[in-house]
Amino acid sequence: MAYNEFRMDNQWLPFTPNRSFQKDPRIFVAADGMHFTTHDGKQVIDGISSLWCVGAGHNRKPINEAIKKQLDTLDYATAFSVSNDKAFRAAEMIAAMTPGNLNKVLFCNSGSEAADTSLKVALAYHRARGEGHRNLFIGRERGYHGVNFGGMSVGGIPANRKMYGSALLPRVDHLRFIHDPVNHAYIHNQEPVWNEDILLELENRLLPLHDASNVAAVIVEPIAGSAGWYIPPQGYLKRLREICDKHGILLIFDEVITGFGRLGTAFASDYYGVQPDMLNFAKAVTNGVIPMGGVVCTDRIYDAMMGAHGSAPDHAIEFFHGYTYSGHPVACAAAIATLDLFREEQLFERAGEMAPVLGDAMHSALKGLPNVISIRSLGLAAAVELSSMPGLPGKRAFDIFMDCYKHGVLVRNAGENLVFAPPYIVEKSHIDTMVNVLADAIQRHA
Ligand SMILES: Cc1ncc(COP(=O)(O)O)c(C=O)c1O
Repeated sequence: MAYNEFRMDNQWLPFTPNRSFQKDPRIFVAADGMHFTTHDGKQVIDGISSLWCVGAGHNRKPINEAIKKQLDTLDYATAFSVSNDKAFRAAEMIAAMTPGNLNKVLFCNSGSEAADTSLKVALAYHRARGEGHRNLFIGRERGYHGVNFGGMSVGGIPANRKMYGSALLPRVDHLRFIHDPVNHAYIHNQEPVWNEDILLELENRLLPLHDASNVAAVIVEPIAGSAGWYIPPQGYLKRLREICDKHGILLIFDEVITGFGRLGTAFASDYYGVQPDMLNFAKAVTNGVIPMGGVVCTDRIYDAMMGAHGSAPDHAIEFFHGYTYSGHPVACAAAIATLDLFREEQLFERAGEMAPVLGDAMHSALKGLPNVISIRSLGLAAAVELSSMPGLPGKRAFDIFMDCYKHGVLVRNAGENLVFAPPYIVEKSHIDTMVNVLADAIQRHA
């Protein structure tokens, strides 16, 4: 297939049904504020912040200008054994935003790299303290930590794992999923309450099975984002923190989606009042404009890694890990400008203000429509879950995604869910359009 002057059969699209795409391409050529312009001149509302990235909206001049200026000043410098001024400033700003003693930022380029980086830090930290036997990781069913081998292994989305069974990390187990489809079908800006303690499984089964002294880290998304916005029960993260503390296990929060404002706070860690030992970030840190990810570690982790080398010569590297583009000056300039913009325009607060507007609209417009079995909203994100078509998992949600696109709204289909997570600059009128288009599409595909 050809579009204008270029052929369309050389790009293999990620996480996309390529054959269907070739028949019915969806190509963006411009974006501004809340909207894309498509190759055929239509406007589409970005209902998902371009996969949780574009918190400040598209085409933000202060970010664009910072990038242009950086290109003309210091385009690139290697990150190994030297560094650049913007990387230190970006790290300082991020450390000032993350809670407590999360102060040491290891930069990378994506959420997937952040996941693998955090797992490697966990192993290296325990080894530095003479506990190298702590080498087992615990993730959670339906968790998503990207597509690299570490993140995929601790992740729990079956379709992402099933081809790679023999190559997944061997020392991994998973917590059970956090959603009760019967009692917590409708969650409206609140935390579900469970009658049972779903973390008893960790205390009474997983830790005795593996012996807690062998566990390096537990890694979870505070809210299960990619699976379809599933919200943890009340007290879950606090209790997870307590169990990890009791057994000397590191707790990693993957905040690639929840970080930088999605819940109306800087991080989910702030929202829930629970501090992890490592906090993974990516996406919104640069407003999605330039790839960047990172892991913020506690001082304790950093000090242990440095202390272990106390008797080593000065030239000895303490952590054999890093990427060519760790702390890339252009990405860091974008991050600095993005974080300044978030603060100047009080965009996290705005996300918090718009959260109930989105939640109200989703619940009032979609509850009771055909096939709707669950609606969950918290922060500036909400999902509607539909019953599966017999023998065709995901088809109904995909068809509705396509229908919405044709009617000018980008929604995210995740399994049987359709998810909205708009930029923080969203107005009520956009939300009304998004939700009405979705409601009509759900009816059309009944
Ligand atoms: C929680 C979480 N971790 C990691 C990732 C992977 O990030 P990336 O696609 O930048 O590698 C994602 C992506 O959606 C995510 O939601």
